[in-house]
Amino acid sequence: MFFFLFLLFSFSTLSLSHPFSPLDNYLLDCGSTAPLTTAATSSLSADHRLFSGDLARTPNSPFHSPSLRASVSLRNDNPFPGLSPIYHTARVFTSPASYTFSLKDKGPHIVRFHFHAFKSPQLDLGRAQFRVLVDDYVVLTNFTRLNCTGQNPKVLEFLVPVEDEKIVIVFVPNRDSKLAFVNAIEVISAPNDLVPETAQFIGSSGNLVNFDGLNKQALEVVHRVNVGGPKVTPFNDSLWRTWVPDDGLLRSSFGSERLVFGGRIKYHDGGASREVAPDNVYNSARLIRSENDSVTNVNITWAFPILGGYKYLIRLHFCDIASISLNMLYFNVFVNGYLAYEDLDLSYITRSLASPFYADFVVDYGDGNVGGDLSVGIGPSKNSITHAVDGILNGVEVMKINNSHSSFDGEDCSTIVLKSWSKGNYSGLLLTLAAAVCIVLSLSMVIRRKMIESRESLSWSRLPVNSSDGDDHVKEEEGVNK
Ligand SMILES: *[C@@H]1O[C@H](CO)[C@@H](O)[C@H](O)[C@H]1NC(C)=O
Ligand SMILES: *[C@@H]1O[C@H](CO)[C@@H](O)[C@H](O)[C@H]1NC(C)=O
Ligand SMILES: *[C@@H]1O[C@H](CO)[C@@H](O)[C@H](O)[C@H]1NC(C)=O
Ligand SMILES: *[C@@H]1O[C@H](CO)[C@@H](O)[C@H](O)[C@H]1NC(C)=O
Ligand SMILES: *[C@@H]1O[C@H](CO)[C@@H](O)[C@H](O)[C@H]1NC(C)=O
Ligand SMILES: *[C@@H]1O[C@H](CO)[C@@H](O)[C@H](O)[C@H]1NC(C)=O
Repeated sequence: MFFFLFLLFSFSTLSLSHPFSPLDNYLLDCGSTAPLTTAATSSLSADHRLFSGDLARTPNSPFHSPSLRASVSLRNDNPFPGLSPIYHTARVFTSPASYTFSLKDKGPHIVRFHFHAFKSPQLDLGRAQFRVLVDDYVVLTNFTRLNCTGQNPKVLEFLVPVEDEKIVIVFVPNRDSKLAFVNAIEVISAPNDLVPETAQFIGSSGNLVNFDGLNKQALEVVHRVNVGGPKVTPFNDSLWRTWVPDDGLLRSSFGSERLVFGGRIKYHDGGASREVAPDNVYNSARLIRSENDSVTNVNITWAFPILGGYKYLIRLHFCDIASISLNMLYFNVFVNGYLAYEDLDLSYITRSLASPFYADFVVDYGDGNVGGDLSVGIGPSKNSITHAVDGILNGVEVMKINNSHSSFDGEDCSTIVLKSWSKGNYSGLLLTLAAAVCIVLSLSMVIRRKMIESRESLSWSRLPVNSSDGDDHVKEEEGVNK
């Protein structure tokens, strides 16, 4: 039933703007009971995807949500006008809890977390402090650093290589706060070619060597930028990504010339696919143009703030939407001031104009680097010609690569994170919190009973399956504390 409806919806919504239909496509509105039946009862995200409540499930549900013992659902009674319904509820955890998603597909999966730390009369989610694991990767150890109170929800996006038939996501509250939450989770299979096996590693002296096994690393999206164009929303992206404009990241006074192309982007086999980046990214760019009898000798430079201690994947998107004919555009590409591509000749690579191409580079910001800016630049090369376009860039993605502790946020590996809960003196919940939790819990029970009554005809299950039978870690952790 679930799948039938699910497929029905994916086809009706995907066929128009999204030709890619992922085998796994979990869109969970956490803390909500909304079943995935019609647009009227489900939670619609701003990009018109249907999210189903994590409390509304069938007996053979393909995912297990946390046991009710360890979690409550919370509703925002005063959401900001215009805020997507997926942020109106949250699932709140007072001890470690996990979601298990069974997968039909192996390979890379996109995992997105949506956080909006709203305040309700019972709880202030802004007080939450917790860590998050995805399989054995530590994806977040300090929730506070996201700074997601106020109006703006925060979305974290990871690309995780999956070799198992499931993904397990664990929320571990800090011992002090005993409070973790999430508003929505997406688990979506990504096309296999999204992350290639090899990229070019730029060494400390600027030498290029192969970086192998890229597709075995997990990645966190840090910057995703549509150069020279407007914001691209999930509605207009083949994998429901968000691309922001580059204005705040542009570092040189030159480069104010933007171009928006009205023609068709010609995707070719072997080049970038629409899943690598959508038309809306390739049809805008910034450029260097030589209008005079000499080549304009300038660079356009962008700077991307990053944290030190990690390697980063930099994906540069190019599409010659500016030249008037083939074989007129030659330019250099710089990453961190080093020559990453000399005399890039897009005509030679793509054999046609308006045809997309992307290049992947890896840089190391480890060892003693506290952070700073990662720079990307373009400039004319020795083959650049006058009265022509002499440099172009359409998009940039910067992704953090997990460190040797399989973490994106510090040196603690997943085992240490899980132990952090069971160790130490367990003093129990604060009275106020416990009381609040009781109120919310009883409220949500009443609501659920109502939902179940109205759901009976659809043969939804009465009670969610306890997560602990699907997850040994958490069962063990809970056992320790009882
Ligand atoms: C978490 O991040 C915030 C903001 O960046 C910082 O002030 C705080 O010290 C961090 N806490 C820990 C435990 O690292
Ligand atoms: C957090 O966000 C608020 C408003 O969005 C901003 O004023 C503040 O400087 C941010 N704090 C940090 C530590 O980034
Ligand atoms: C999608 O893209 C089109 C054309 O670029 C634009 O007009 C429209 O506003 C975009 N829609 C959303 C929801 O971003
Ligand atoms: C082209 O030449 C004109 C006149 O000499 C000058 O003002 C202009 O800045 C030059 N343009 C570029 C892009 O160098
Ligand atoms: C462009 O940037 C590269 C690398 O930082 C530098 O070597 C070159 O001198 C720059 N060219 C101009 C014209 O600034
Ligand atoms: C990322 O994690 C994987 C799996 O734990 C590990 O094999 C790999 O070496 C890590 N990457 C880096 C750059 O340390």
